[in-house]
Amino acid sequence: MLRRLIAAAALLAAALTAAPAAAAGGPLRDLAEARGIYLGTAVTGDRLTGGYADVAADQFGSLTPGNEMKWDAVEPTRGSHDWSRADRVVAFAEAHGQRVRGHTLVWHNQLPGWLTGGTWTADQLRTLMTDHVTAEAGRYKGRVDHWDVVNEPLAEDGTLRRSVFGATLGESYIADAFRAARAADPTAKLYLNDYSIEAVGAKSDGMYDLVKRLLAQGVPVDGVGFQAHLILGQVPASLEANLRRFADLGVDVAITELDVRTTLPATAEKLDRQKADYASVVRACLAVTRCAGVTVWGFTDSDSWIPDFFPGQGAATLYDEDLYPKPAYDGIAGALAPVTPPAPGVCSVTYAVTQQWAGGYTAQATLRNTGTAPLDGWTVRWSQPAGQRVTQAWNTALTQSGTEVTASHLPYNATLPPGGSAAFGLNGTWSGTNPPPTSLICTSGT
Ligand code: G3I
Repeated sequence: MLRRLIAAAALLAAALTAAPAAAAGGPLRDLAEARGIYLGTAVTGDRLTGGYADVAADQFGSLTPGNEMKWDAVEPTRGSHDWSRADRVVAFAEAHGQRVRGHTLVWHNQLPGWLTGGTWTADQLRTLMTDHVTAEAGRYKGRVDHWDVVNEPLAEDGTLRRSVFGATLGESYIADAFRAARAADPTAKLYLNDYSIEAVGAKSDGMYDLVKRLLAQGVPVDGVGFQAHLILGQVPASLEANLRRFADLGVDVAITELDVRTTLPATAEKLDRQKADYASVVRACLAVTRCAGVTVWGFTDSDSWIPDFFPGQGAATLYDEDLYPKPAYDGIAGALAPVTPPAPGVCSVTYAVTQQWAGGYTAQATLRNTGTAPLDGWTVRWSQPAGQRVTQAWNTALTQSGTEVTASHLPYNATLPPGGSAAFGLNGTWSGTNPPPTSLICTSGT
């Protein structure tokens, strides 16, 4: 047992040289930007005033119009466009330095009545579709960062959905829509978007094969959107691997409609679980270089589609109905917290428990000057993960306050030449468990 513990500590020590930095804060859009992704939200355009507008502008780096860009909204009467609601969201985003995810050009839902009520030949339907794509992508040319060109093209088993487009035109409608979008707005990134493709499985396999086929035909698909309408506690274990296999095809990926629904009422325990779920989705995106960002599908429970579509369920977003942040907000902020790279050119530190007995232990730490100049003084800080107390230390001036430990040089080991190291040790007490610290932060200076 003791050997296993020591081996685990030694393994961990190798990972401890990268020091996570400061506690999570906000706003989320800045945290996300600093980690190289965007954090976006779907919004309802006519709510963009007051506190709702403030949160939307302050916290999110990207906006998706929840309904305002859908075909029924922009062309309620054939040949007569009404861009007013979409324009409003785009103008708001531009006024607040936000990107826009355009949603969506071709989808089988929220189609205008004149289209669904009409009878069309395949050629007529194809022309109506490409004209619509040309008009809308053209209208917002250069102002939309990503377009969901085709939304929800697949059935649950991963085959082509027998929607009006799929059934009448076959798979070729997808290529036509993408080509029309590229011609209308050459700079927007063009996405395929779907739900229930977050895990590796039949539907995501279908999407994977579809993307491969389209790329092989030279269709300008730039990305795949994973909607991620999730159920509490059911973030797929394969999410990150799934994102990665799509990225390996040479396309970007994004989480486009994240929410985590639960049965009501939402207890403190459920909200805590939800916090972990939001965090793990954000972490999966951060882990995949080609993951462009995460968009939540509405940021407040007062603006979520869930209660209308799943009676008895809700509380799916990160702010409550009164615009107070829920634990999910902290989950996202925590996942996005800055990571300080392993202090380049300064110092690194390893830590290992070398002996352990009932209630007591000995640990050894070694600090190394990884820079090219002499180190003039050093300090190592860590947090005791299970409340362990240090009772004695050597070769260092060590203090403990609560769970926080600070170990500094002594006069005789303050100066370290490049490549030089200083070892220090400690005895401590523990009860319950004695895990090693999850991070040690090493800084230089006296
Ligand atoms: O605008 C009318 C309003 O005039 C009327 O009084 C009211 C009465 O029900 O309905 C309003 O329209 C609703 C519309 O949202 C705007 O609020 C529709 O009934 C309602 O069906 C529609 O729901 C939208 C849903 O897509 C429709 O499919 C949701 O807001 C929207 O969040 C949701 O978004 C979709 C994504 O586009 C694609 N992925 C799934 C996601 C969730 O379903």
